[in-house]
Amino acid sequence: MISKTKIAIFASGSGSNYEVLERACREGELDAEIALVMTDKPASFVVERARQTEIRVVALEPKAFPTKRAFEETVLRILREEGVEWIVLAGYMRLIGPTLLAAYPSRIVNIHPSLLPAFPGKDAIGQAIAHGVKVTGVTVHLVDEGMDTGPILAQAAVSVVEGDAAMTAQSIHAVEHILYKETLQNLFKSVPATR
Ligand code: GRF
Repeated sequence: MISKTKIAIFASGSGSNYEVLERACREGELDAEIALVMTDKPASFVVERARQTEIRVVALEPKAFPTKRAFEETVLRILREEGVEWIVLAGYMRLIGPTLLAAYPSRIVNIHPSLLPAFPGKDAIGQAIAHGVKVTGVTVHLVDEGMDTGPILAQAAVSVVEGDAAMTAQSIHAVEHILYKETLQNLFKSVPATR
C-alpha cells in the first residue's frame, strides 16, 4: 500500500482552511494525512476545530523560548517524530526561520490572500481595498526566507467588493478553500515522497 503524504498544518487564527483541508483528507480528495496542527496561538479557534476533528494539536508560544532557533528546534523535533514530510501554512502569522527552512527545503507551502507580488504581509485585503484595486485574489506559493516571496504554484483572481473588506474576505476565503486543496494535491503527486 502506498502511504499517504504526511503533513503538518501551521495556523494562528480561525482555521477555516484547516477545516477544509482536514475534510479533503478524510474524504480522499486530498491524498494526505494531517499528522498535527501546530499553532503559536493556543487561544486561536483553529485549536477548537482541530480538537473536534481529533487531530493532534501542538501549541507552542515562541515567547516561552529563549530564541527563535530554540522554538523552531522544538517544533522540528516534533515534526520528525511524527514523520512529517510537508509543512502547510494556513493563516500562520509568523515568518519561518532558517531552522525549519533548512529542514524542509521547498517543502513548506503558504496561502496568501492577494495576487502576489502585490500586497504581501499583513492585512493583504485591507491593502487591496486601500489601493482601490478592482481585482485581487489568492496565491499559493512555496515558502522561502522572505515575506510571501517564494515560487508561485497557483493563483486565482477575486473581484473586490468596493470598500467592503468583509465581503471581499468572504469571496477570497471561498476561493482559497478550493484552490489550496487542489494545488496541494497536484504538488504532492508531482514531488517524490521523502519516506
Ligand atoms: C487566509 O486568508 C490565508 O490566505 C491567510 O490567512 C487566512 C487564514 O484564514 N494566510 P483561516 O484561519 O484559514 O480561516
